[in-house]
Amino acid sequence: MTAASGNGSGGAAAGIRFDQAARAAEADLPVGPEKTALVRAMFDSIAPRYDLVNRVMTFGLDVRWRALSVEALGLPAGATVLDLACGTGDFLRMLTGAGLRPFGVDLSWGMLAANRTGRPLVEADAAALPVADACVDGITCGYALRNFTDLGAVFAEFERVVRPGGRLSILEVAEPEGGLLRLGDRIWFRRVVPVIGGLLSDRDAYRYLPRSTAYLPPVEVLRPMLSEAGFSSVNHRALSGGLSQLITATRRGRP
Ligand SMILES: C[S@@+](CC[C@H](N)C(=O)[O-])C[C@H]1O[C@@H](n2cnc3c(N)ncnc32)[C@H](O)[C@@H]1O
Repeated sequence: MTAASGNGSGGAAAGIRFDQAARAAEADLPVGPEKTALVRAMFDSIAPRYDLVNRVMTFGLDVRWRALSVEALGLPAGATVLDLACGTGDFLRMLTGAGLRPFGVDLSWGMLAANRTGRPLVEADAAALPVADACVDGITCGYALRNFTDLGAVFAEFERVVRPGGRLSILEVAEPEGGLLRLGDRIWFRRVVPVIGGLLSDRDAYRYLPRSTAYLPPVEVLRPMLSEAGFSSVNHRALSGGLSQLITATRRGRP
């Protein structure tokens, strides 16, 4: 299977093999429609306190990471931006504040119900966007890649809906390369966050979230996947010592 193939179960690039189905099986995580149903139900359940738990578990750093992601989009005021997997609307608020014209798409009705941004919202799966071809100037997508069931299909949708010359800005969790920061990050996300999540929201969901990183291909696989899907200038940046990662790219073709 090549890195850009579409069933979301794996990828191979630059000698790196990433078999998403095997990784999911090892971590006892579901795939296919079972994964989509679990993800939808989980976000429906944690929606009411999602923002609060986010702030607590990242010490508020998530706000800065989203701001960097909006800045890295590099689009002029008035540009139309699809905020994919918009959740409760943090990105939509920032994009609006930056003078852009965003709308949101998300799978979870619960997350959309908690979204009070006043921006247009659509309930849909990222793998089948109800959006016309080449009609957005850019896409932001925060902390959702690992939740998608079919990453190849989602990247094909990115290519279809973003106009040539348009931009992608994808924010995801990451693991610091090594040392104390990596150890601290592991203890925090695997041991402490489920407890905090349990106190403030839903313990099972916040146990699932750190485990769900098993679904996330490394950047060495994501980069060629995006390139083969039709994007150039794929750039990767580690944020805050590697606690988060930002991937940007430009849709190929003449604007
Ligand atoms: C961790 S939250 C991130 C929300 C928001 N982007 C943020 O930065 O806070 C992941 C979001 O992805 C959405 N999601 C998961 N799978 C999806 C899919 N297949 N299509 C659209 N949205 C999806 C979830 O409902 C949830 O709102």
